[in-house]
Amino acid sequence: MVTVKINGKEVKVPKGTTVLQAARKLDIHIPTLCYHEALTPYGGCRLCVVAVTRDGATQIVSSCDYEVAEGLEVKTETDVVLEIRKFVIELLLAEAPDAKILKELAQEMGVKPLKRFKPRNELCIACGQCIRACKEIVGVSAIDFAQRGYEKKAASPFFERSQDCIGCGTCYNICPTGAITLKDIAEGEKALLPDGSEVAGPARIIDNWKVGLELKRCKQCGEPFAPQFQLEYFTKKVKLPEDFFEVCVECRTL
Ligand code: FES
Repeated sequence: MVTVKINGKEVKVPKGTTVLQAARKLDIHIPTLCYHEALTPYGGCRLCVVAVTRDGATQIVSSCDYEVAEGLEVKTETDVVLEIRKFVIELLLAEAPDAKILKELAQEMGVKPLKRFKPRNELCIACGQCIRACKEIVGVSAIDFAQRGYEKKAASPFFERSQDCIGCGTCYNICPTGAITLKDIAEGEKALLPDGSEVAGPARIIDNWKVGLELKRCKQCGEPFAPQFQLEYFTKKVKLPEDFFEVCVECRTL
């Protein structure tokens, strides 16, 4: 175990614990954006910065991927820390001014949108949660970062239709800014993908990765319930009987 001091309070945590996890153990709030407890920390957004002092030297680090060490002292709300967090939110707001979570954080921190950057008017803030979730939770890696700097964002390979996306919607559910659009269309409906191709329902459409995937119908109730591709993937991955996904969750639990 390792003993650290955060805002003057001592806490004992296992080796390998991050400063963010130790702070949460003490109920100390540190704002985060790119961090998700189910994923490997990425340290991309820098919103979770704190001041750490070790062997007499103080530095500013991102708390979500900085591991505790014996005797470490952490301060989560120094003037410098608060200024950096405000600046991070200003920059992110300039990129994605319509992202609800950013507006809330800006209000909480008393931050006004900056006028000196041209808004990108996209909701993706390149936090990478969708990319890590697709790789680490689903095991697919259908998407990755594209472009650099201000233009960096999550995308399908070469911005073309993703061949690997199984349409599970994990990316959609985990995205903190609502940058990913997912919709299911019913039989008789049609949708146009961003590349101009037409998809007929029942299907799941994820515009960001340019996919339209056929939805399988439940053998009992007849309702479409999940992309056929997703069900085939999970049947193979977890070695389920071939007929496991013949019925939807609701019918299976009746
Ligand atoms: S939450 Fe730690 S860097 Fe984004």
